Amino acid sequence: MTTAAGTLLVTGIGELVTNDPTHDGGPLGLLTDAAVLVDGDRIAWVGRSADAPAADCRLDAGGRAGLPGFVDSHAHLVFAGDRASEFAARMAGVRYDGGGIRTTVAATRAASDDELRGTVGRLRREALRQGSTTIEIKSGYGLSVSDEARSLRVAAEVTDETTFLGAHVVPAEYADRPDDYVDLVTGDMLAAAAPFARWVDVFCERGAFDGDQARAVLAAGAAAGLGLRVHANQLGPGPGVAVAVELGAASADHCTHLSDADVAALAGSATVATLLPGAEFSTRAAYPDARRLLDAGATVALATDCNPGSSYTTSMPFCIALAVREMGMTPAEAVWAATAGGARALRRADVGVLRPGARADLLLLDAPSHLHLAYRPGVPLVHHVLHNGAPACLL
Ligand code: NIG
Ligand code: FE
Repeated sequence: MTTAAGTLLVTGIGELVTNDPTHDGGPLGLLTDAAVLVDGDRIAWVGRSADAPAADCRLDAGGRAGLPGFVDSHAHLVFAGDRASEFAARMAGVRYDGGGIRTTVAATRAASDDELRGTVGRLRREALRQGSTTIEIKSGYGLSVSDEARSLRVAAEVTDETTFLGAHVVPAEYADRPDDYVDLVTGDMLAAAAPFARWVDVFCERGAFDGDQARAVLAAGAAAGLGLRVHANQLGPGPGVAVAVELGAASADHCTHLSDADVAALAGSATVATLLPGAEFSTRAAYPDARRLLDAGATVALATDCNPGSSYTTSMPFCIALAVREMGMTPAEAVWAATAGGARALRRADVGVLRPGARADLLLLDAPSHLHLAYRPGVPLVHHVLHNGAPACLL
């Protein structure tokens, strides 16, 4: 099976999630006995198998469920070492406070470019096998001009969705002069990072950066042409969400500790609330209340937050299952949040949806419907991944 020679028709899809409401009037845009025509790296047609146009080759899905590739809009894949013993200590009762970030910074600085490239490649393949066809990757474990620039250079080798997170924490050498570090981040570091980055992010949290520092980082990033994202309200209440909405960020991520005003601000804005349940799982913390956000009218995305400290998973199906079981989301809401929601959080119209002109990123599940992603947790249901129209098993 190849698309190089022409069009490919995937037929016999028992249930297809398109995220195109024109099919059924609902957000998932469900079709039964569906087919998808792929032309090169794009979708050319979506409809019922019985109405499918002719194609150069065919793939029979055998009644499996289909859906758009997952859009993982928040991951930190550029790092060295791991923090398994920190995880074990947490499971024995130690509280997570982000302090371990500096351990990973030291390991990352000591690693060669090829070691970083090896880890990014391994995790990117791991994510793709589980259906993540789009992935955002942040820097943030270099925290020097050269280490942040090379982190983003390596990330840009595997994704266009790269994010400069020089403002992750204040590194040890700036511990007693944090404002000098903000000057570095908004000056030389941003200048070195911006050519490799689409986005800028800041960890706005007690112990990291306060509201004014976050505003300074985001304003400098915007002036350099980058889009805005914020790590907001993860470990406690704070100004992160308010700053994100005020500055028109594409996404406020974590949103675990929200005031009523934060929820109202998100609901009245174009800023997506990106929830990262892998972090609460791995830090044994209370989960964010997705139901509250959805009922208020906010747009919710789900992402992995893959990183060696607070969430060492690349699995979007795992995040869907957690969101349904622990955060008050229905399976349909969680599947939408992991596909179309992630696309909104990255301000992309060409992914997270199956309609003519969109990228040909299509998953087939060893299951009859999308419900099974939450109903069968921990089971590798992703049977087939088409990425940009090509079978991902070849990558
Ligand atoms: O999103 N909270 C800030 N950054 C990461 C954790 C990084 C780490 O612990 O290494 C997060 O959870
Ligand atoms: Fe994160």
